[in-house]
Amino acid sequence: MPLACLTDFQAFARERLPKSTWDFIEGGADDSFTRDDNMAAFKRIRLRPRYLKNVVNVDTRTTIQGEEITAPICISPTGFHCLVWPDGEMSTARAAQAAGVCYITSTFATCALEDIAATAPRGLRWFQLYVHPDRQLSKQLVQRVESLGFKALVITVDVPKLGNRRHDIRNQLDLKLNLLLKDLHSLKERTSIPYFQMSPIDSSICWNDLSWLQSITRLPIILKGILTKEDAELAVKHNVHGIIVSNHGGRQLDGVLASIDALAEVVAAVKGKMEVYLDGGIRTGNDVLKALALGAKCVFLGRPILWGLAYKGEDGVKELLNIIKNEFHTSMALTGCQSVAEINQDMIQFSRL
Ligand code: FNR
Repeated sequence: MPLACLTDFQAFARERLPKSTWDFIEGGADDSFTRDDNMAAFKRIRLRPRYLKNVVNVDTRTTIQGEEITAPICISPTGFHCLVWPDGEMSTARAAQAAGVCYITSTFATCALEDIAATAPRGLRWFQLYVHPDRQLSKQLVQRVESLGFKALVITVDVPKLGNRRHDIRNQLDLKLNLLLKDLHSLKERTSIPYFQMSPIDSSICWNDLSWLQSITRLPIILKGILTKEDAELAVKHNVHGIIVSNHGGRQLDGVLASIDALAEVVAAVKGKMEVYLDGGIRTGNDVLKALALGAKCVFLGRPILWGLAYKGEDGVKELLNIIKNEFHTSMALTGCQSVAEINQDMIQFSRL
């Protein structure tokens, strides 16, 4: 039976993956309240369609940081793709290139960055950085991704410490992940920085460190994990180029707002001075439309990409992206939008439920 929506891939992945891998992907922090609220919050928003508007030619294309993408639906950074599919991030990169969307590669990628860049040389890629306590290592890594043609640096701000993930503690997953990174020891000879040395995250990082990051790269800097107007205003003050409104898929601080509920506040605070994106809980084309109506320039998918990889590697991710892009096309047509620029706040209302 063909798969018809993103959650069909989820069901398949659950069947196929070992329990500890499934738990690692799906798990949220603590009670997983925020993880679930990310999806529930989209269901509290209703659509207001406009009809009789000629939607013969619906165009889903847009740009992010000046680069064209085929639809405002891209790939969030997630680590350890080799847990799910043999050539992990390389399959993801090829699928993103074929789909014409941006792939944010994680610091915790399990393929060499050189191989990821080489396997999809025409793909739009950003790099997500966890700053290492040894700043020199981070500097080398940033220079390496810049020379490999990554087009932006995404700094994840919501992990000064890892969230409390109960399943991973019960499954003793740390041990298994470390082993996976150590399996890549041979990379040490090929690249200047072994990945397993990249694992610690500097919890001392603060706003003043952005000027250091800006001094070591020409790439635009995007902050991932901002949820409040106070931090959005600081992001403007520190001249970053974009924000991804995100709560890390509910894997960090449980009990924070659903990403979609935090979006309007952040969009209002930046006053159009930078692009604002969103991830967390996007599962349908209608979710994409709702996020754009609330001011996001583009959305990113986390877990669904891993479900696609688990299904059929590169082909699975391609198929999954194709489905949600088609859904978004339908959402635009059924609400009366020919272009992404026409999507606006009047197209949604909050349900009283
Ligand atoms: C993540 N996420 C994440 N974020 C990040 O900045 N760096 C990373 O290495 C990872 N790794 C990671 C692994 C796994 C298995 C998951 C599920 C998530 C968070 C990710 O980028 C994104 O914010 C959420 O996954 C978005 O929510 P959805 O789409 O999964 O609901």
